[in-house]
Amino acid sequence: MNTSNGRRQFIKAAGAAGLLSAGAGLPTLALAQTAKLKVGLMLPFTGTYASLGVAIANGFKLVVQEQGGKLAGRELEYITMDDESEPSKGADRANQLVNRDKVDLIVGTVHSGVQMGIVKIARESGVLNIIPNAGVEAATTQLCAPNIFRTSFANGQPAFPMGKHVADKGHKNVVTVAWKYGAGEESVAGFKDSYLKAGGKVSKELWVPFPNVEFQSILTEIASLKPDAVFVFFAGAGAAKFLKDYQAAGLKGKIPLYGTGFLTDGILESVGNAAEGIETTLHYGDGLNAPRNKAFQLAYAKTFKLQPDVYAVQGYDAGLLLLAGLKAVNGDMNRKKEMYAAMERAEIDSPRGKWKMSKGHNPVQDMFLRKVVGTENRVTGTVIKALDYPPAAACKMPV
Ligand code: BEZ
Repeated sequence: MNTSNGRRQFIKAAGAAGLLSAGAGLPTLALAQTAKLKVGLMLPFTGTYASLGVAIANGFKLVVQEQGGKLAGRELEYITMDDESEPSKGADRANQLVNRDKVDLIVGTVHSGVQMGIVKIARESGVLNIIPNAGVEAATTQLCAPNIFRTSFANGQPAFPMGKHVADKGHKNVVTVAWKYGAGEESVAGFKDSYLKAGGKVSKELWVPFPNVEFQSILTEIASLKPDAVFVFFAGAGAAKFLKDYQAAGLKGKIPLYGTGFLTDGILESVGNAAEGIETTLHYGDGLNAPRNKAFQLAYAKTFKLQPDVYAVQGYDAGLLLLAGLKAVNGDMNRKKEMYAAMERAEIDSPRGKWKMSKGHNPVQDMFLRKVVGTENRVTGTVIKALDYPPAAACKMPV
């Protein structure tokens, strides 16, 4: 048999077996399972959230490394896109990944405003989007979609338990400080949800434009308002700057500071003792006794010569979620329905502990209280188990 005859015979047989894509003349199954999986890594690699982007990419790649360089038999090709945490560039950059680079999925991003652009493109194109940080609540409530999954948190989720904790500490009047964009606003709203219900009063909400780190006038105002406590949302390099400025202004030790764990995660090495003793709530922390945590921390430190933080865990879980989906379809991403069904029912064995997806595709997960001790965000307790927040009921999943 000459080669062209052999190919015709194969195509005929493959066609009879239903393995050909319409009109393409090539065996879909073979292609789908052998071509490299194109992963768009759309993350901030510059600016105040740069270290968060790097940790997420590292965490994701660690899963691939642990799987011997392939996920369910597929090698990966990364198309890296720096989104600069710039909301005005979100949709354009996601569109480039989908329509110019033809990625199979987008893993991204960190900033809630940029995420809104990715969500728009994911909804329009149907391309899979795994969100490894950005907590914008709409992504898993009003704008939920079969192809959009989150492995991190919704913005109000880690803030909600802190409201009750601050009230339980006897702080009756609080000032909130946050960057004025979706993440800050939803974080403050989550805090207030439980703080006000517990009888607390927010005497003033102070806002800083993102990514501004000029905190002097805010600190002067806090000093004159003299609240019982301050609740904060900042993250990355901005959080480190805020903690140092709070101490330099003489407020540390006078007016207790609380926040979601983003205030102190990944930055403790750079702030001296400015964060010592601060309590935060988050879905991860140091010393967590989850079965997968020790091995994860060792492997991450060995591979990247860095200590993992919550962002690394979220990137790692993005890899685990993709792996669960790909395994169910033998690496064939054309079988989207089956793949997404597997991702919906997956129990992710995360370094933070096991968790599952809500109806809107956001983690239903335990929330921990942590306290800064030296360079550790030491877990001191579990404040809420299996928190689904904001309630997934707001998601009407399109079919
Ligand atoms: C956000 O923009 O959603 C975000 C960024 C950093 C930490 C937490 C949330």
